[in-house]
Amino acid sequence: MKKLGLHEIRKEYLDFFKEKDHLVASSFSLVPKNDKSLLLIGAGMAPLKPYFTGDATPPHNRMATCQKCIRTGDIENVGRTARHATFFEMLGNFSFGDYFKKEAVAWAWEFLTERMELKPEDLWVSVYLEDDEAYEIWNKDIGVPAEKIVRLGKEDNFWELEVGPSGPCSEIYIDRGLEYGCGHEDCKPGCDCDRFLEVWNLVFTQFDKDEQGVYHPLPNPNIDTGMGLERITCIMENVDTIFDIGAIRDILHKVEEISGYEYGSAYEKDVSVRLITDHTRAMTFLVSDGVIPGNEGRGYVLRRLIRRAARHGKLLGIEKGFLDQMAGVVIDSWSVEYKELKENEAQIKKVIRAEEEKFQETINQGIDILDEYIEEMKAAGSEVFGGDKAFKLYDTYGFPLELTLEILNEKGIKLDTDGFKANMEEQRQRARSAREGTDGGWGGKEEEELTKGFKSTFLGYDTTRAESVVLALFKEGERVIHLSEGEEGLVILKETPFYGEQGGQVGDKGKLLFEGGYAEVTDARPTKEGAILHIISVKEGQLKEDMKAEAAVDDELRDATRRNHSATHLLHKALKSVLGGHVNQAGSLVMPNRLRFDFTHFEAVSKEDLARIEAEVNHNLLRAMPVVTEVVTLKEAQEKGVIGLFEDKYGEVVRVVSMGDYSQELCGGTHVSNTGQIGLFKIVSEAGIAAGVRRIEALTGLNAFDYMNSLEKELEQLSHSMKTNRQSLKERAQVIMEELKEKEREIGRLKDKLSANIADEILSTAKEVEGVKVIVYTAPEMDMNSLRNLGDELKARLRSGVVVLATAIGEKVSLVAMATKDVTEKGIHAGNIVKAVAAATGGSGGGRPEMAQAGGKDVSKLKEAMDSVEGLVREQLKR
Ligand code: ALA
Repeated sequence: MKKLGLHEIRKEYLDFFKEKDHLVASSFSLVPKNDKSLLLIGAGMAPLKPYFTGDATPPHNRMATCQKCIRTGDIENVGRTARHATFFEMLGNFSFGDYFKKEAVAWAWEFLTERMELKPEDLWVSVYLEDDEAYEIWNKDIGVPAEKIVRLGKEDNFWELEVGPSGPCSEIYIDRGLEYGCGHEDCKPGCDCDRFLEVWNLVFTQFDKDEQGVYHPLPNPNIDTGMGLERITCIMENVDTIFDIGAIRDILHKVEEISGYEYGSAYEKDVSVRLITDHTRAMTFLVSDGVIPGNEGRGYVLRRLIRRAARHGKLLGIEKGFLDQMAGVVIDSWSVEYKELKENEAQIKKVIRAEEEKFQETINQGIDILDEYIEEMKAAGSEVFGGDKAFKLYDTYGFPLELTLEILNEKGIKLDTDGFKANMEEQRQRARSAREGTDGGWGGKEEEELTKGFKSTFLGYDTTRAESVVLALFKEGERVIHLSEGEEGLVILKETPFYGEQGGQVGDKGKLLFEGGYAEVTDARPTKEGAILHIISVKEGQLKEDMKAEAAVDDELRDATRRNHSATHLLHKALKSVLGGHVNQAGSLVMPNRLRFDFTHFEAVSKEDLARIEAEVNHNLLRAMPVVTEVVTLKEAQEKGVIGLFEDKYGEVVRVVSMGDYSQELCGGTHVSNTGQIGLFKIVSEAGIAAGVRRIEALTGLNAFDYMNSLEKELEQLSHSMKTNRQSLKERAQVIMEELKEKEREIGRLKDKLSANIADEILSTAKEVEGVKVIVYTAPEMDMNSLRNLGDELKARLRSGVVVLATAIGEKVSLVAMATKDVTEKGIHAGNIVKAVAAATGGSGGGRPEMAQAGGKDVSKLKEAMDSVEGLVREQLKR
């Protein structure tokens, strides 16, 4: 067997098939062209699909490539095992209606046994269960003995993608020897163990699978083969895993060099090294092919790869950004084949560096917040980190949970994992109910049953008032013939301008006027069969079946609702234009007094972006664009690129609401006739409600106006309390803050002075226990920080000895113990002292021999506990 490296084998392979009259093409981009069924190229044949199906004519009917590929299905396992990878190269030779099984098999055999000089006795093959033809070729033409040809089913020996060319296949395996096997008698290709390594897949492409999963025979049978370059290199270099391959080792060595960690010393760290090694290749090639980190599709894959690698860099103790250096190794080595890497070098490094920095910011911010939470937690005397806090870090700040866990771990703090899960679940529920909307009244099945067979005509797109007739009345789950003054119930009218709650827009409110009386309509909702139920309360007179009635929607509320609904469309569009095309509606609530819009996005929207979004919407109000509704077929709407949920519920014809040339959306709701009528748009909040789902709440029209007024009023009040006027408020606040800072400094100085005095006093209370100076002191109310500072000072001034300090604020006891190094050598352990004192006051804690802190709960036991310190010291010294 020859000994060849990765780059050499690639060349040998392509040269071999060139000799066999193949057109050798460079690898296609990782980004599929004109193929929506794929996110990334994951097989050699993928970019060649049109040649297989006959949709395009190939430049030559025999081709060969070495194709860069990414598969992310197993990304969670990458690093954890030495077998998984996201990036790999696939060697492939293809026939488009030219040669078939006979040649494909013969050439594969020739290449492996003659060019690679593998021993024929080490090779095994598999064929598809029913493929006698392939079996015969292997057995008769090539001479592979029958016992080394395995017939396998569709799972193993039929190759396909979601859609496109597919067919039965035959695979070649290398027998790595008994020592790799499971030892079972029936161990052969297809077995789960590591003995038989699959190296080459020969696909006899006979079908074109459509989106429905139907296989259409292709006019000409084709050949598609795939051999993992890394696999064959493992064999040729005689190494066990892809991470041992020379070229890939160079990447791995770079990780070792930067981190100072030696591969093979510890399992968890090896995981990180392997992950970085793999992800580096994937990210370098992705950026080179024009992918930019983002929140959707390929951009998201890339972002994930970079952030995971950066994160594992941290686990290896790498402080600074390093992935651009990593990419450098790949660029240098792989540009022998992929010239574009060198050409794009600067861009590749820049993009990777920027994304790594962005991630670093997220991490830094998260770490600060995490530290704050830990302080709060300690101050509250708790030892378990709240699940709600971990959730907030994860959800609002994009801080990975694993990182929270790890930092807590280092500090010996436990996380309330159940609490975290509960928060996650709660959020899921919230998102679900936001999607489902509300259901008032007695509602549900019963209501549907009762109102079966009724239909109403909705007039509310054009008018808010209509003369109508009462079709039916219901009360408490039963049909009735009248509803009298003081009674509440449901009414169905023949025609109605009342909008029934749907698509996130709430039902109209208003009045029903009839001879001799009137009723309030408090809500309206549609039935599945197309009736609109008015929820009414009769205020005067008696409403009867068949009676004439005038239905009047409350115009003020309806107009406010219209503004909010139209503004929701503008917001949706503005979100897409500012944040990106990945933004999609996930839920919406349109009410008269506010609007709520839920959408897909992976991180908190920055203040700047929110301002941009708000400005874009307001700009479109000022453009005073006409709002036009059209009824078109679903197909027409799809072709026009209208946004909206294209679900069956919209039926064959749909309503499309357009606002100038800016927004076109599917919608059954009611709208203003011109965007100018919305008046004003103001965002009041933005928050996460589920993983990857954000919520914006906003106001329009008079509600926005009132809101601005209330802000103004608050400013007035604030100015008043600060004893100044609006114009000078800012300066006043600055002056106050300055004064405050100065006062804090002053207090600090006084405190220092005070504690110097106290320190003198405390020092004078030091006792000698078995020749060791011991200070035991319970200070008046003090925070932990000051207590620690006092301890430091006492320890320093004592030079040699033990200091144990306590303080109590309310019911909370804080403890600090310190010991100088020389006395720890005599057996003193501050951690154990503090542990015992804390335990005596109903708390816990501990630490190192020189320094420890803890908390307790029972102030009444503090004196006794502190009195025991002397005894504890004595005991420690005796041992
Ligand atoms: N298209 C085949 C594979 O990817 C060769 O295994």
